[in-house]
Amino acid sequence: TVLVVDFGAQYAQLIARRVREARVYSEIVPSTMPVAEILAKKPKAIILSGGPSSVYEEGAPKLDRALFEAGVPVFGMCYGFQLMAQSLGGTVDNNGAREYGGTPLHVSRPGSTLFQGTPEEQSVWMSHGDACSAAPEGFTVTASTDAVPVAAFECDERRLYGVQYHPEVMHSTHGQQVLEHFLYRGAGLEPTWTTHNVVEEQVAAIREQVGDKRVICGLSGGVDSAVAAALVQKAVGDQLTCVFVDHGLLRKGEGEQVEKDFVAATGVQLKVVDAQERFLAALAGKTDPEEKRKIIGREFIRVFEQAAAEVVAEAGAHGESVEFLVQGTLYPDVVESGGGTGTANIKSHHNVGGLPEDLQFRLVEPLRKLFKDEVRKVGEELGLPAEIVWRQPFPGPGLGIRIIGEVTRDRLDLLRDADAIAREELTAAGLDREIWQCPVVLLADVRSVGVQGDGRTYGHPVVLRPVSSEDAMTADWSRLPYDVLARISTRITNEVRDVNRVVLDVTSKPPGTIEWE
Ligand code: XMP
Repeated sequence: TVLVVDFGAQYAQLIARRVREARVYSEIVPSTMPVAEILAKKPKAIILSGGPSSVYEEGAPKLDRALFEAGVPVFGMCYGFQLMAQSLGGTVDNNGAREYGGTPLHVSRPGSTLFQGTPEEQSVWMSHGDACSAAPEGFTVTASTDAVPVAAFECDERRLYGVQYHPEVMHSTHGQQVLEHFLYRGAGLEPTWTTHNVVEEQVAAIREQVGDKRVICGLSGGVDSAVAAALVQKAVGDQLTCVFVDHGLLRKGEGEQVEKDFVAATGVQLKVVDAQERFLAALAGKTDPEEKRKIIGREFIRVFEQAAAEVVAEAGAHGESVEFLVQGTLYPDVVESGGGTGTANIKSHHNVGGLPEDLQFRLVEPLRKLFKDEVRKVGEELGLPAEIVWRQPFPGPGLGIRIIGEVTRDRLDLLRDADAIAREELTAAGLDREIWQCPVVLLADVRSVGVQGDGRTYGHPVVLRPVSSEDAMTADWSRLPYDVLARISTRITNEVRDVNRVVLDVTSKPPGTIEWE
């Protein structure tokens, strides 16, 4: 394992992903973790991330020198680089030599461990106020910029390396290569962390954890629960029962994808609960977004609990016990639940499959170490259908929060048809993986006058909400080609009864959220 010490900016997760792209397993630890504890994890290498502080600030995160004395290879980036310089006896000045954004880097030792085979002039991404003016003793300065005399230093003898810039961001043109040089050449690591090995490792771990007990898993139609279930199925086969609660709020074809395609690809035993009527009844007359969300979450848990009780009873009748529940927890959830305080409650997000704590099961979480893009690779490795593996984000409460107004069966059918057309045309235009997602929203309580054939119409508008995003925390509206928008609009107004207008949402997030409710 390579440990990335997080000094509090957004960069640690990105660094961890880049290390994994180099096929070396990495994890993130907070900078508040004592060095003894970090070393007790027996890391093969340590990376110090960037961070928002200045080493001169009161209360800025510090680092115990002992980290550099343990013989573990270390790579410092940005703030991590300055900490390294300072604690090893170099000089860091607060003299206004600030640099932000793309900056030319001059490599003075082109054959060095970090820079071998990369150009002598390369562009790097900088973001710093302080600057290192003298490297610690025993270190060779290997690169500089116009403003900063020491932009990289290396000490092969102690296997300690550092760069002032951010090699992990795309704008550093040879950043990934430099990072790989640290991992392979500096730290002597092998690129062995492959999707294939991840699957093998997880399958073995699941077998070990579960033994001969039975396992239950809720499927939502999304990629995480599908990949988690497929891994468990591969590990313990028919000890697994999957439960799919059909709440009637999925998009066209998604229920069939789970019931037919997923089952065909994996051979899982599937229990389908048709709860459409129940959800519609519970939602009748409700228009407040938070209330709708709460109802959907509550009903989901009730229906799932009942289905789980049935699975337990059936197993019991055969003298078997169901002891485990699969959850599709991802690595970012694990890292984030370690920190992150007091953010305002904008929406009560819930995941279908987000279950109460007091269920009588122990958890199996085979995706706990993985980032989303890695989950998709595992899904492909396991042969899951592309529609599931590459499914764009879709909210747990589903179409229930894309009908502005009361949710009824008619309105759901209408929205499903409009949404299917938008998705078909986006796919046909090859835009699926370009945009983050494109909610289609039905303004069910709004009507406008139109004309179709010779007649007057008085129908509802639908809103297209195509967005681009990295992580859904912020988003921009996607500049879709006009001809694609035109095809979607023409087809929806022609093919979907009662919809006579298509409008485009051109709001970024913030101030708009991605979903309308
Ligand atoms: P917002 O609307 O908050 O959405 O900008 C951010 C992202 O989260 C998705 N979303 C949800 N996902 N349960 C989920 O699992 C929810 O209740 C939920 N609400 C929104 C949304 O589609 C977008 O990707």
